[in-house]
Amino acid sequence: MIKIAPSILSANFSKLVEEVKEVEEAGADLIHIDVMDGHFVPNITMGPIVVEALRPVTALPLDVHLMIENPDQYIEVFAKAGADWISVHVEACPHLHRTIQLIRSFGVKPGVVLNPHTPIEMIQHVLGDVDFVLLMTVNPGFGGQKFIDSVVPKIEALSNLIKEKGYDVEIEVDGGITEETVVPCAKAGATIFVAGSAIYNKKDRKAALQAIKMSGES
Ligand code: DX5
Ligand code: ZN
Repeated sequence: MIKIAPSILSANFSKLVEEVKEVEEAGADLIHIDVMDGHFVPNITMGPIVVEALRPVTALPLDVHLMIENPDQYIEVFAKAGADWISVHVEACPHLHRTIQLIRSFGVKPGVVLNPHTPIEMIQHVLGDVDFVLLMTVNPGFGGQKFIDSVVPKIEALSNLIKEKGYDVEIEVDGGITEETVVPCAKAGATIFVAGSAIYNKKDRKAALQAIKMSGES
């Protein structure tokens, strides 16, 4: 079974509540919230007040992807705003083990994110400490970018490493996920799929979401 995490980055922000409810009714498993600071990535999006506003409108876990410098400074506020999962970029965390423990200390599921060019060796010593690893399949910063195929062998290598070590860690992928690109990622071992434009840019969100799910499970 795979999980679909629609990214609200591609939603219509003037009616965000309805946009979240729509994908929940369409069968989403998580709501993916992209936090960008204009420093770690060249775009600025939303902060903890959006997480706080969305918390009461959905029963789904809120999957908060922090694309920010110095994430340690903001983990508490995102946890208190209602984040259920928080992921941080290895490229932004010089004290990664400490950051992961900090996330867990608030009862939130910790995840670590790797940019497309970052090798999995960077996280081998924290694999036993996280609940999930998020592999970027585009360069973070914007929705609607093209899937980078060269990440697929990395998904497979990570999946093998997790199995070999016997860890209970899920692999999430983010960027350019469509009905087509979900297939090689699922075969390689990813089980959680973020999709922004492939869901929100479609008129029938339910059909779009279900098509990605079916394709990933086939
Ligand atoms: C990119 C974000 C993604 C983005 C994905 O930096 O992390 O979550 O919303 O958008 P799509 O699915 O359109 O590539
Ligand atoms: Zn994301």
